Amino acid sequence: MKTTISVIKADIGSVAGHGLAHPALLKKCEEMLGTAKEEGLLEDFYVTNCGDDTELIMTHRQGEENEEIHQLAFNSFMEATKIARELKLYGAGQDLLSDTFSGNIKGMGPGCAEMEFKERPSDPVVVFCMDKTEPGAFNMPLFKMFADPFNTAGLVIDPSLHNGYTFEIFDVLESKKVELSCPAEMYDALALLGSIGRYVIKRVTRNDDGEIAAAVSTDRLNLMAGKYIGKDDPVAIVRSQSGFPAAGEVVEPFTFPHLVGGWMRGSHNGPIMPVGQNQAYPVRFDGPPRVMALGFQIADCKLVGPNDMFDDPAFDLTREESSRIASYMRRHGPFEPHRLPADEMEYTSLPGVMEKLETRFKDMD
Ligand code: F6R
Ligand code: MG
Ligand code: MG
Repeated sequence: MKTTISVIKADIGSVAGHGLAHPALLKKCEEMLGTAKEEGLLEDFYVTNCGDDTELIMTHRQGEENEEIHQLAFNSFMEATKIARELKLYGAGQDLLSDTFSGNIKGMGPGCAEMEFKERPSDPVVVFCMDKTEPGAFNMPLFKMFADPFNTAGLVIDPSLHNGYTFEIFDVLESKKVELSCPAEMYDALALLGSIGRYVIKRVTRNDDGEIAAAVSTDRLNLMAGKYIGKDDPVAIVRSQSGFPAAGEVVEPFTFPHLVGGWMRGSHNGPIMPVGQNQAYPVRFDGPPRVMALGFQIADCKLVGPNDMFDDPAFDLTREESSRIASYMRRHGPFEPHRLPADEMEYTSLPGVMEKLETRFKDMD
């Protein structure tokens, strides 16, 4: 019998401004998922939030892309949105692009990462949630976990990891995908993965046997809606230990606060800061972008945990470095590379400015 983990998230309203999801929203989602557990649709669940995003972590036997599971997530977000509207929370229901469910939550606004596998005798899983950034923010850390021997010692010294992993990479602009096997095709993979706004890792599988190792939400809300209505803050599920990177190798890439797109108005580069759940509240200039890591053991489709993995003094230095980089980046104000290039900004006044100045632009001599 196989186990499926579905992590489905949406920003359905927050306090103050695009800050923190309100506890009443989490409570409503817990009630809805609790009923589904009693009825046998879900085996287990855990509801949390990373900043203004409400995350539903669910285990079940229904497989990936299951209509009932997606509908359950959608209905939970819809019910919680009613409360968000009553409380006049900021951005109430902002990630729900439609009020009628049409079979699959993909393309309807919420982000979704799912994986199905046969449980090992002991199966540790880490769920990562990011706020104020985009799915490509996972490219570097996932590459390091599964392809960089300077991060993951097991790639070199553990025979069960030694044959490497394959990355399924989505081109989110052209809606195409490609699989690249590492280490053999590492340079080709990096040629794509460096473009974090366009090429994003969707899945990672083990070369030895095709076993699923990681899955990421890649929904680009801004493109789906045809206009900007909210940042597509991503989630990822990563399996660890015994044939996968150790839990410590899975979190190690986040000791480097790499620069990601997002932050204020989804239009700035800033350092990602690894934080415990109680610090997943991006305040300064709506940031800097945050990532939290919840570690679970999966036991007969039940969630044991979570452990709040970045709530660890070993990440204090990274947080400090991230704060320093945030200050350095902020000093650029409206200049690149703090502000994103014009074609990647989620908000832009440039077309209006260009229109106004059109007649004043003269040919250069
Ligand atoms: C970024 C984000 C916030 C908002 C900003 C402006 O993903 O959610 O930084 O973009 O607070 O929000 P509005 O336009 O709603 O005032
Ligand atoms: Mg918001
Ligand atoms: Mg958010």
